[in-house]
Amino acid sequence: MTVTICADHAEASARASAIVADALRAEPALVLGLPTGRTPVALYASLVAADLDWAKVRTFNLDEFAGLPPRAPGSFRAFMDEHMFSRVNLPPAHVGFLQGDAADEAGECARYERAIDEAGGLDLLVLGLGANGHIGFNEPGPGLRASTHAIALHASTRAANADRFGGDPARVPARGLTLGMRQVLRARRVLMVATGPAKAAAVSALTQGPLTTMCPASWLQVHSDVTLLVDRAAAALLRDAISD
Ligand code: GLP
Repeated sequence: MTVTICADHAEASARASAIVADALRAEPALVLGLPTGRTPVALYASLVAADLDWAKVRTFNLDEFAGLPPRAPGSFRAFMDEHMFSRVNLPPAHVGFLQGDAADEAGECARYERAIDEAGGLDLLVLGLGANGHIGFNEPGPGLRASTHAIALHASTRAANADRFGGDPARVPARGLTLGMRQVLRARRVLMVATGPAKAAAVSALTQGPLTTMCPASWLQVHSDVTLLVDRAAAALLRDAISD
């Protein structure tokens, strides 16, 4: 894992944007995995402003709230439409997304897993990091699931997502649909951005802690091509790693 400590969130976002842009220029038909959350907002703004051709790119987002129709306010699909999809020339047919309100959740998860496999797997997976160490909605617990699945969200995850639901954690859906660890670890390259003091413990656990299902992101240690961009606040608990 390559860990780069950036001065601040802006620098981490700019570096992440440059990595995605370079990958897209090198492979116009890139298969790109994408996160939501506050962290990637500046990254998406930078990508939108860059001179990039998205015509052949295919995207697959990591996760979605269960029970929400695709364009519902608060949905991750609405977030992506707002911050990126409506602003670049990515063909709507090239957008892969879990349908939160699918009647058959298991069938929807299987469809999504197949769609990513049929696209050849993810070339580059961009990730955020939950303060509790989650990736997508792979929450800490006694076990992790390999395949795409539905899962109950931790109270802390619902609280962290409350700003998209009027600030009220109780209005955040209680469950989510998410890629499992198989597609995460199978991605040819992983780029994670984690900034701010709330992520410091998770950054320490994922880079320096044991592999454990209690920190899903720790499993990135077994991946051979992970770039982790952190700011100084998120790097505060890293041993021997702080440099100005
Ligand atoms: C949500 C998403 C994750 C994201 C995380 C971090 O729970 N499901 O994919 O990484 O939030 O969000 P933020 O970037 O706002 O800290």
